[in-house]
Amino acid sequence: MQEHVTSETIAERIQAALAERFGERCRVDPQLAGLEELARIAGHCVHRRFLPRSVEPALLRLLCACALSAPSKSDLQQADVMVVRDEAKRHAVAALIPDVPWIAQAPVFLVFLANGGRLPQLARMRGKPFPNDHLDLFFNAAVDGAIVLATFMRAAAAVGLGCCPISAIRDRPDAVSELLELPDRVVPVAGLCVGWPAEAGRITPRLGLEVTLHEDRYASAELARQVEAYDRRREAARPYARQRAVERWGKAVTYGWSEDKARQYAEPLRGDFGAFVRAKGFRLD
Ligand SMILES: Cc1cc2nc3c(=O)[nH]c(=O)nc-3n(C[C@H](O)[C@H](O)[C@H](O)COP(=O)(O)O)c2cc1C
Repeated sequence: MQEHVTSETIAERIQAALAERFGERCRVDPQLAGLEELARIAGHCVHRRFLPRSVEPALLRLLCACALSAPSKSDLQQADVMVVRDEAKRHAVAALIPDVPWIAQAPVFLVFLANGGRLPQLARMRGKPFPNDHLDLFFNAAVDGAIVLATFMRAAAAVGLGCCPISAIRDRPDAVSELLELPDRVVPVAGLCVGWPAEAGRITPRLGLEVTLHEDRYASAELARQVEAYDRRREAARPYARQRAVERWGKAVTYGWSEDKARQYAEPLRGDFGAFVRAKGFRLD
């Protein structure tokens, strides 16, 4: 029997998702337009397991076009999307990052690119100087790339596809860049696994809105207490299956988000990324 979905039901679904996410019941007016869209956004979760069902090339092109319709800083259009269709190339990327098997398993693998190369090329084509070769060029391109990535995920979710961004491709930026033949000033922001989800996703609780939503002034005096409360809420809802780096830090009695992230960032990660970005021709000063 088909469930009759009223706007009240959708409003309740949004409220429940946000309560799980933030530990707070937000008011949701059932008369609001776009509740279905809000429900998808509020219920977001990444997917790492996919059905063995392909994604039609026409659908993929449609989603890429929607993603590239995202806003762009000064209309500079500094983001590109690469579809890694060649299976040999995709397996070569996956082989570089053995910890992330879903790169090889997902029906589609994309790479979102920050492109700081087109703008200086335009300057040359139009015979103009280019006095803006500094950090902002890289930053704008990376932000545009991230917005296009997020917009792709939103479009994909609207048609029922699941996604998982993959920053791990930046563990081996040189090799990825060579495989994908990225020119100067074009660098990967993140990969993206895309496919039809094999299972329902689960909401990951986030820091409370009192930590990340500010009004008029930045407030962080209560951070330690708020993080402690988040750790407890998260441990109750989504306990970590395993503790990180037990050989270095031992087994903690209570293991929340803050301990996990502190342990994660106690190891040097991607210390060579700046050198890679500079070698690709970006000036970061
Ligand atoms: C820019 C970016 C890079 C990410 N990189 C990876 C990755 O390399 N591997 C992975 O499994 N998940 C990756 N993720 C997924 C995050 O782990 C996930 O978003 C986070 O755990 C929160 O879960 P949720 O998105 O389901 O709420 C990435 C997410 C983002 C936004």
